[in-house]
Amino acid sequence: MCGIVAYIGPKDATPFLLEGLARLEYRGYDSAGVAVAGRTGGIKVRKVKGRVADLAADIPARFKGATGIGHTRWATHGVPSDANAHPHLDNAERIAVVHNGIVENADELRVRLAADGAVFRSETDTEVLAHLVAAHATEGVELEEAVRAALAKVVGTYGIAVLDAERPDRIVVARNGSPIVLGIGEKEMFVASDVSALVRYTRQVVHLEDGELATVRADGFRTFTEDARTTHRQPSTVDWEIDSYDTGGYEHFLLKEIHEQPGSVERTLSGRLDERFATAHLGGLNLDARELREIRRVKILGCGSAYYAGEMGAQLIEELARIPAHSEPASEFRYRNPVIEADTLYIAVSQSGETYDTLAAVQEAKRKGGRVLGVVNTVGSAIARECDGGIYLHAGPEISVASTKAFTSTVVAFALLALHFGRIHDLSPADGRRIVSALKALPGQIREVLAQSDEIARLAAEYADSTGMMFIGRVRGYPVAREGAQKLKEISYVHAEAYPASELKHGPLALISPELPTVALVPDDELLDKNLTTLGEIKARSGRVLAVAHRRPEARLADHCILVPRSEPELDPLLLNIPLQLLAYHAAVALKRDVDKPRNLAKSVTVE
Ligand code: F6R
Repeated sequence: MCGIVAYIGPKDATPFLLEGLARLEYRGYDSAGVAVAGRTGGIKVRKVKGRVADLAADIPARFKGATGIGHTRWATHGVPSDANAHPHLDNAERIAVVHNGIVENADELRVRLAADGAVFRSETDTEVLAHLVAAHATEGVELEEAVRAALAKVVGTYGIAVLDAERPDRIVVARNGSPIVLGIGEKEMFVASDVSALVRYTRQVVHLEDGELATVRADGFRTFTEDARTTHRQPSTVDWEIDSYDTGGYEHFLLKEIHEQPGSVERTLSGRLDERFATAHLGGLNLDARELREIRRVKILGCGSAYYAGEMGAQLIEELARIPAHSEPASEFRYRNPVIEADTLYIAVSQSGETYDTLAAVQEAKRKGGRVLGVVNTVGSAIARECDGGIYLHAGPEISVASTKAFTSTVVAFALLALHFGRIHDLSPADGRRIVSALKALPGQIREVLAQSDEIARLAAEYADSTGMMFIGRVRGYPVAREGAQKLKEISYVHAEAYPASELKHGPLALISPELPTVALVPDDELLDKNLTTLGEIKARSGRVLAVAHRRPEARLADHCILVPRSEPELDPLLLNIPLQLLAYHAAVALKRDVDKPRNLAKSVTVE
C-alpha cells in the first residue's frame, strides 16, 4: 500500500527519501516520486510510474534540497502513471502533497476548486489536497493553519505530508486513519508511514494519533489537534533489530521469515509461561481473574490470515477454556451493525496494527461499549493504541507481504490466552502442564519441519503446474487448510480452495480429478479414521493427494506425505501449517513469482 517519507535537516533530503522509499517497497506500489524545497526557492519534483530504482535513475545530480517529501503510490483513483504519482502540486507550484488514504468527497471538492480556477493535472483524489491547502495558504497564514483549514473540508482517510516552497523550514503532517510516524534525529527530523523507512536513522519515534497534525522542523516538532489544541507526545523507542529489515543471506524475506519462526515463537512465549501454576502470565490484558470469569463469549476480528489465525484461536479458547468463541472477518463485522454484548470479549488481530477494516471494527465495537483486546505485532500501532489491552506478538518486523511468522506467533498468543482463560475456569493443572510443555517444545519442533525445506521444494515443483489445488482439513485442520490455500494463491497465483474435509462429499468432490490435487491435513487425532475415509474417496476419483500428517498413510491413500512432529492435539494446527508455508513459497519460486511483492497485494491495507 502507499508509503510516505519526509526529511528536514542540514543534509540533502534526496538520499534519505530514496532509501526510505526503497525500504517501503515491500508494502506494494506502482509508482514513486519525491519533491524537495531548496534554499534557492521553489519546489523540484520527480515522479515516475514504476520502481524506486527507476525514480532514482531519473533524478539529476542537481536535484537537492534540505526539506523533502516522497511517496510510493498504490493506485486507487486513476491508473498507475507519471501524472498520477505523488507528490501533487497546486498550480503555482508552491504546495506539494503526498497522501495515503482516500478523499471521499474529492469529486465535490474538485468541482469547487476548478470553479475558483484550479487546473487539475491528474485523476487522483490527492491533487485536491494540494489545491485546497494552496487556496488557504494566503498572505499571513501559517502553513499549519492552511493545512488545518483544508483538512476541515475533507471527508475521508489520510496520512499526509505537505511541503511549502515559501516555508522550507517546516513540513506539516497529519493523520486520520493512515499512519504517520515522526523520527527524531540529531538536529534533523524524519517522517514515514512505517518505522521500517526510518529505523536506520533513529530509534526515537512518535506515532501520531488520528485527528492529530504536526509541524516538523529540523530542531523538533509540535503536535496539535484539528481544532488547534497543542498535544504533548513523548517519543517511544523502536526495539526491533535493524537486521530484521534485510534479507540476511536468504533469497527472499518470505523464506527468511519462515525460517525465523523458532526464534519468533520463543519471543512470543518469553516470560509468559508460569510453570508453577501451569498457566500463562499475560501482563497486558488489563483484566483480572474476576473480570475474566464474567466473560461468556469471545469474538475474534481480523482480516485475511489474521482472521484465519483467529479461527485457530477461537478453537483453542473453546477447547481449553470451554468459552464459546468465534472468529469473523473484521471487514464484514464493521458493516453489519453488530450486536455488542457486555459479557463478550472482543479480540482484534493484526500484524501491522494498521489494517483499516480491523481498526474500524475495533472502533465500532468500542463505540457500542464493547471491551476490546488486541493481538498485535507492531508496538504503538493504531489498533494497539485503540484497544483496552492485549498481547504483543514480539515476532519482529514482518516485511514479506505474505504473513508467516506473525501468523504463527498469533496462534501461539491465542494458545497462551486460552491457557490463561482455561486455568481460571476448569482446565486442570495436569492439562495446564500438558499445554505448557507442548508450547515450550514448539520452537524445536518447528526447526524439525524447516529441515525438510528441500524435500518440500521438490514436492512443490511437482505440484506447482496444477491448474488448481484443494486444501482439506477437519475441525482443527480446517483453519490450517484455509491458511494454506490463502498462502498458495497469494504468492503463486495458483487457484486454491479450502474445504472442511467433512464437506467434500456434499459438493466439491465433483471437482476431484487427476488435474486437481488435494493437500490433506491428517493429524493422528480422534478424527484420523474419518480423514482416511475422505482420502479413499479422493483416490477413488483418481485425485492426487499430498498428505501432511503425523504418520504416513497407506500408499493407496496418499501419493506423497510430509511428516510433522506431534504436539498436543490442540496445538497440532501450528505445526501442520509450517509445511504449507514452505509449499507455497517453493511453488511460487518454481513458477518464478516475485514472492516478496505479489501482484495486486499490499502489506498493510490502510484503505477501505
Ligand atoms: C496474508 C496477508 C493478509 C493479512 C491481512 C491482515 O498473507 O498478509 O491476508 O494477513 O491483510 O493484515 P494485518 O495482520 O496487518 O492486519
